[in-house]
Amino acid sequence: MSTTTPFIGSRGGSPGVTARSCANIALVKYWGKRDAARNLPAAGSLSLTLDALVTETWVEFDPGLVRDELTLDGAAVSEEVRVKTSRWMELVRARAGLAQFARIASVNHFPTASGLASSASGFAALAVAATRAAGLSLSARELSILARQGSGSAARSLFGGFVRMHAGTAADGSDCFAEPLAGSQLPDLRMLIAVVGAGAVKEHSSRDAMDHTAETSPFYPAWLALVPRDLEAAERAIRGGDLRALGEVAEGNALAMHASAIAARPAIMYWQPATLALLARVRELRRAGAAAWATTDAGPHVKVLTDAGSAATLAAELAQVPGCSRVLVSGVGQGATVTATTPQGEAKATP
Ligand code: ADP
Ligand code: DP6
Repeated sequence: MSTTTPFIGSRGGSPGVTARSCANIALVKYWGKRDAARNLPAAGSLSLTLDALVTETWVEFDPGLVRDELTLDGAAVSEEVRVKTSRWMELVRARAGLAQFARIASVNHFPTASGLASSASGFAALAVAATRAAGLSLSARELSILARQGSGSAARSLFGGFVRMHAGTAADGSDCFAEPLAGSQLPDLRMLIAVVGAGAVKEHSSRDAMDHTAETSPFYPAWLALVPRDLEAAERAIRGGDLRALGEVAEGNALAMHASAIAARPAIMYWQPATLALLARVRELRRAGAAAWATTDAGPHVKVLTDAGSAATLAAELAQVPGCSRVLVSGVGQGATVTATTPQGEAKATP
């Protein structure tokens, strides 16, 4: 159930609320939509939240503003990103019965728009901070549905650990949300993030690339048919404590996603030579007995699923691959949360 808390105070603004969210990497990918206007995915997905990729976002509603303002890493964002964010903020205002615009300051503690899931942690942190600042108290499911309308992968970043996104069937998206996957028997996981190209901004956003794949790739129907099978196999592996089985599904699923994108006309090709070199090195290390399985997203970086005991050695191996700028070792991340609330001017929120 949602509740709305009105704000009182001399300036009539809201408290400033800071939220923190981790990005997540999908082991069974979201790639294509059933409804672009509502941002409804065509299929489910399954992800792991990562503690090495963090976004912090501060939001304050202010009656003195004539439009929403957004800075990212200390600089004003492009008008395109500001308008996209502001459209999403309309959903929060409508729900809270607020007319005020907001001042938003966000920091991604990792490269933005580079294939490291900044849209996931970005919209998850914004969803938590903006709804709290607007006086809304939403259920986890409501918050996930709201975050999804900003970015599909953000619906998953609200939660820690393994997270399952449901595509749902309702036309209004009311059953399209993410929730933590219960019953994991895989503790002590690590994900290595082998950064390629020093985190440069990618050529195609995930959104444009998945739409283009769905519209033009002859392999897109095959991709969609594969996802339910991979979801079932991945869930079985997680609940059965079978890292090898999970790794094999994750690597195969990522390659299938990219196969569908590469076959689009014109092709969407996120991989660079160093991406292929890293993928080959992971296969080599695995043949030599390592617990290592690769996945890649809408960018050139390679993420490697492994266990805590293998992480340091594998990271050192991957760092040697020509073209790899650095390797981050990530543990499993927690869900998004409010980290600070400060009063705005003399304004005070009613309890
Ligand atoms: P990535 O691989 O980093 O997720 P995308 O192209 O999918 O790249 O998404 C990048 C977009 O996500 C940005 O252009 C912006 O619209 C949004 N975004 C990224 N970080 C934030 C943030 N901290 N707050 C709000 N929106 C963000
Ligand atoms: C390759 O969630 O960024 O990372 O909903 O259009 O904002 P929009 O897309 P987004 O796409 C993520 C694509 C992916 C796979 C995944 O995270 O599942």
